[in-house]
Amino acid sequence: MMKELIVKTRPKSVFSEDIRTIRTNLDFSLSEYEKKVIMITSSLPTEGKSFISSNLATAISQNGNKVLIIDCDLRRGRLHKIFEVSNTQGLSNLISQYNQEIDVKSFLKQTDINKLYVLPRGVVPPNPSELLSSSRFSSIIENLKQYFDYIILDSAPVNGLPDALILSNCADRVVIVTEYGKTSIDALADTKKALENVSANIAGVVINRIPKSKSKYVYYYYGEKE
Ligand SMILES: Nc1ncnc2c1ncn2[C@@H]1O[C@H](COP(=O)(O)OP(=O)(O)OP(=O)(O)O)[C@@H](O)[C@H]1O
Ligand SMILES: [Mg+2]
Repeated sequence: MMKELIVKTRPKSVFSEDIRTIRTNLDFSLSEYEKKVIMITSSLPTEGKSFISSNLATAISQNGNKVLIIDCDLRRGRLHKIFEVSNTQGLSNLISQYNQEIDVKSFLKQTDINKLYVLPRGVVPPNPSELLSSSRFSSIIENLKQYFDYIILDSAPVNGLPDALILSNCADRVVIVTEYGKTSIDALADTKKALENVSANIAGVVINRIPKSKSKYVYYYYGEKE
């Protein structure tokens, strides 16, 4: 049952404590915003974006906030698997069908976690980048903001794809996930530069999967505020 949601299943673990530290840092960084949109990305596939974003969304909802996590990885998104909800009628379907009359809330799935909702990926579309850069997508985000305290955007990796850079336009803060011993400094530097080139507001870097022998499971560096 939702075995990847460590903050739910093992709230006292070091990982869960670290996720809550990330939550606190983001909260400080976003205190001036009424509605908070946080995007999670990384340089490469499988560094842990979906794992971190799902646990972070859970931790933020555990603080009493109403939270929506959106699967914006229209290529290989798997939030529906993590939260064990249906993937029919997800984000790709909503963008394709969007008009003024559509009830965006009818596309959201309630999770087993109180106050946490998910908008799953939906059918893999032939044109993910086009869908994410459409004005319909930004209207959907604006529309959804009225119902939630926080919106978490789980994205595709930055390297080689325009999707995450496009998506960052809709986010107040971007968190970059790196994998211990895997992500190179050059890859991280390229990702940072690419995001800065589109004026993304980078909150910090999460180093995921630090071996237990190195004492911390996840380490979060909170970047300087502009
Ligand atoms: N800190 C961690 N501890 C244990 N397992 C982890 C951790 N981080 C990631 N994983 C596992 O590694 C795999 C890849 O993680 P995840 O799907 O979150 O990566 P991703 O960056 O979202 O990948 P993609 O680029 O395909 O979207 C998953 O099976 C996930 O459960
Ligand atoms: Mg993912």
